[in-house]
Amino acid sequence: MTNAKEKDSSSCLPPNIYLRSLKHYTKMYRRSLEEPEAFWAEQAQKLDWFKIWDRVLEWQPPYAKWFVGGKLNVSTQCADRHAKTWRKSKVAIYWEGENGETSVLSYSTLSRDVNRFASVLKKLGIGKGDKVAFYLPMIPELPVFMLACGRIGAVHTVIFSGFSPQAIADRVNDIQAKLIVTADGGYRRGKIVKLKEITNEAVKLCPCVKKVIVIKRTGEVIPWIDGRDIWLSSLLDDAESFVEPEPMEATHPLYILYTSGTTGKPKGVIHSTGGYLVHSHSTYQWVFNIREESVFWCTADVGWVTGHSSIVYGPLSHGASIVIYEGAADYPTIDRWWDIVEKYGVTILYTSPTALRMFMRSGEEWLAKHNLSSLELLGSVGEPINPETWQWYYKNIGRKMCPIVDTWWQTETGGIMISPAPGIEQLPLKPGSATLPLPGIDAAVVDVNGKELPPCQTGYLVIKRPWPGMLLGIYGNPKRYQEAYWSRFPGVYYTGDFAMRDNDGYFWLLGRADEVLKVAGHRLGTAEIEGAVISHDAVAEVAATSQPDAIKGQAIVLFVTLKKENSPSEALRKDIIRHMRQTIGPVATPNEIYFVQSLPKTRSGKIMRRVLKAVASGQSTGDITTLDNETSIAEAKYAYQSLKKTKSGLGRELDQH
Ligand code: WT7
Repeated sequence: MTNAKEKDSSSCLPPNIYLRSLKHYTKMYRRSLEEPEAFWAEQAQKLDWFKIWDRVLEWQPPYAKWFVGGKLNVSTQCADRHAKTWRKSKVAIYWEGENGETSVLSYSTLSRDVNRFASVLKKLGIGKGDKVAFYLPMIPELPVFMLACGRIGAVHTVIFSGFSPQAIADRVNDIQAKLIVTADGGYRRGKIVKLKEITNEAVKLCPCVKKVIVIKRTGEVIPWIDGRDIWLSSLLDDAESFVEPEPMEATHPLYILYTSGTTGKPKGVIHSTGGYLVHSHSTYQWVFNIREESVFWCTADVGWVTGHSSIVYGPLSHGASIVIYEGAADYPTIDRWWDIVEKYGVTILYTSPTALRMFMRSGEEWLAKHNLSSLELLGSVGEPINPETWQWYYKNIGRKMCPIVDTWWQTETGGIMISPAPGIEQLPLKPGSATLPLPGIDAAVVDVNGKELPPCQTGYLVIKRPWPGMLLGIYGNPKRYQEAYWSRFPGVYYTGDFAMRDNDGYFWLLGRADEVLKVAGHRLGTAEIEGAVISHDAVAEVAATSQPDAIKGQAIVLFVTLKKENSPSEALRKDIIRHMRQTIGPVATPNEIYFVQSLPKTRSGKIMRRVLKAVASGQSTGDITTLDNETSIAEAKYAYQSLKKTKSGLGRELDQH
């Protein structure tokens, strides 16, 4: 699959400063595996605890409990403790609205707001263990509310603001959230996203929701339900300025975040308070080498795990200054990001290969207009960064002076797992490789039987022992937790990714091994996509797969058979796309829909997506001996080729959502 020799080539390595020795890292890494508990205890001591833990780790596979008996509070870590020092006047958040509005929050303001928002929640009867859902644009109130939940021990779930009413309702009902916090709207490419209307539709499906807090962002007239809806501003009028932080057990859930898996239903990934914070705090320092004067900008949406760990908990627990940008990367023009980098003097930029590929397309003249000399370190996350994109990033954004940290991790891992780590001098880079596992992370590449593979062979990426940021489980579904991560190789965490380790022990991530797609860095399960398509009236059967896409990495393609009374048409194609956007959200917009009479299946009736994927990528179909209906392949190929000729251009726009 991969030519290791080719990837080993060091001809494209950055200059010497990145070729520091691995001595420090190697020593630290070795120790972390030899004495894991002592190692992690040392990291944990960097945080403030109300009560120190009795035991560092209780490991009863597949459940790990970290810092058992310890008590702490995330809002104390991320706000109060900085507000008590000189950092009180240090900038916590530079916020830039899409429409040009801005605001700046110091650590003392952050701390005060967290207290006031916590008081608001308390007065609404929210307490320890209650679930609160956020459906918000990227505004400072979102991190403030997340920390406010943490302060009183409520568990938050952030729902990405590109999701549809149905997707919101599925999540809210799963955790039985009592309260949703939303806004009157948000800005996206100059248009207003009607978040409140969407919330209203969702709440119709959620009997558990008793109250909806609304934050004023756009000032638009919005539909209102008296008795249920309340403006945040009116609640803040009576808010207390101090709320005692709840001493939270380290093992208590901090948040639940939904992610796609191999079945139709999104998984509610539960993260702990103590272990999660220790992991995100430590890895943030190791990877980003954060310094007091750093200005850190992670371009992800808070609705994904990257936003949780790399916008909120990682940076704020360090008292770092961060940038939050509300809107689209190309609004009003394609250089908006570079304008922001220049304006705030961003020193560390953390983004996705998809975004970079979009900028690569639009040419370097946009960059020439901006002074990017503040940048010192660049990061990448969400999907493999191909060497060409890496080189472009290095040369054009980093001016050949900034190392690139390609960080591999997952919603489930809570924090970064495999990555260059300038903070501990682990830096010899190889473009396209996420390099080496961080201290405490026992990663390996194994074959189908779970046997560790020799260098340069492709296999499954696994993690051989628990780590502090490891998920606590899947909400309400222990069976699914066991099956998805722990049954393939007993006692070992299965990541679902293909990988290869080269002769230097460097990891090369090669994409998903299961039926999960990464579209523009977002994780979508084929089962979830198919579930949405099949609920369209005209559709009989569907197979979702992907094809390579120059910008998104992978793009969704559908092979669809129709119910008897329907026939393929452009109007129907458009309608299926509309339906998918409505059911899941714009993130699920397919690139192509191929109408066929039958889908390739095995004799036992399983759809052979692998074959369709090959067809949709214009590749050979490989071994088809188990195939039942060979004509289906000829048909799929025909549909692919005819559509290639008449490209409809539908659903092609890149929606950063
Ligand atoms: C999947 C997890 C964790 C942040 C956002 C994604 C892919 C993530 C990389 C990388 C190659 C990567 C993997 C992983 N992935 N980072 N640096 N190189 N692949 O979180 O949505 O839970 O997706 O994203 O396939 O399993 P997520």
